[in-house]
Amino acid sequence: MEKRTIVKMPGDGIGKVVLEESIRVLDAAGFEANYIEGDIGWKFWCTEGDPLPQRTIDLLADHKIGLFGAITSKPKDEAFEGLIPELKEKGLVYSSPIVGLRQHFGLDICLRPCRTYKGNPLNFIRRGKGNTIEEPEVDVAIFRQNTEGLYGGVEWSDPPDQVYDALMTHPKFQKNFGDAPKEEISVSTRIFTKNATERILRAAFEHAKNYGYKSVTVCEKPNVIRETSGMMYKMAQQIQKADFPEIELWNTNIDAQMMWLTKNPENYGVIVAGNMFGDIVSDGFAGLIGGLGFACSAQYNPETGVGVFEPTHGSAPKYADYPVSIVNPIAMIESACMMLDYIDEQEIAKMIRKAVAEVVAEGKVRTYDMAKMSGRPDVIEHGAASTVQMTDAIIDKL
Ligand code: IPM
Ligand code: MN
Repeated sequence: MEKRTIVKMPGDGIGKVVLEESIRVLDAAGFEANYIEGDIGWKFWCTEGDPLPQRTIDLLADHKIGLFGAITSKPKDEAFEGLIPELKEKGLVYSSPIVGLRQHFGLDICLRPCRTYKGNPLNFIRRGKGNTIEEPEVDVAIFRQNTEGLYGGVEWSDPPDQVYDALMTHPKFQKNFGDAPKEEISVSTRIFTKNATERILRAAFEHAKNYGYKSVTVCEKPNVIRETSGMMYKMAQQIQKADFPEIELWNTNIDAQMMWLTKNPENYGVIVAGNMFGDIVSDGFAGLIGGLGFACSAQYNPETGVGVFEPTHGSAPKYADYPVSIVNPIAMIESACMMLDYIDEQEIAKMIRKAVAEVVAEGKVRTYDMAKMSGRPDVIEHGAASTVQMTDAIIDKL
């Protein structure tokens, strides 16, 4: 069989380190592929004025599967400062290349599983009856709508007249904002379409059905955000009734959900939310299973087959300069496993996950986060495993 080609996009900072480590694990597990590097990130913004060059888009369009490290994103003004002088005159505006990638390829389904590893010292614990300590086992799959909502990019400061006039036709705009000078108004829209909402809901229900979860929870805020959140919940009710009657449909508000995180996280199965709330709730659950060092994700377009797999942590630029890398590679390695699942290499994924679980359970090799140290360069001297040592330990188990 012909070898697969994977587009590896290291991005910035520690993305460059953890991506290579995940490929080392894939190799050791016997997954055969060619890797081509796709340019993306801060460096290309500064030198070319585009953090997501067309050549990278072309590569991904050709090969369909991307393994992604991490990205440094900065607010508008700070990003402008990073440009080389000859680009400063061009009126370029920075926007996140990962968000750009999601939108360009319509990677509208984002799956972020959060599962407890037995023996992880970072697992959430809570006080039970009579001062006992309980360690609830978390196993949730978060489905985040990945292209619309507050991430749609439809926003203005000092909106154009047409937009302002249109807003003024809304009685609430007139009443609540009509007195504010136009140039002092900033608007970010939250647009949901039926099509994308249905796709993320169905993906969530299908997943619940295929993997034996008993419930799907819509985590939005329909009591206040009536049109978008309201539409999502209503559609969820219809879909559940028509096609998934065996799965329970629950409805939580994002704020209350964040509070319940530490109260009853073991009760939730599949969670589905719009873009921003999905972003929030997935970080929330990740915190219960070890934090960003363990949080992996898949984002894909079921029609075109394009999929990009990435840890949900950032590029942590500070850590990238340490002489020996100390960051936890597990989130990236788990993301690579999600890639394997996606391309029908579940057996290899299973093997790698088992190896990771064994290393975590054994507890002999722990990166600084797992050893509860603060992330300074000298953690290695104090017994923390380096990024490479953690990867080696996982490879040894394979
Ligand atoms: C994530 C990240 C991104 C997001 C950032 C880097 C744009 O937080 O993947 O969760 O907000 O989606
Ligand atoms: Mn996030």
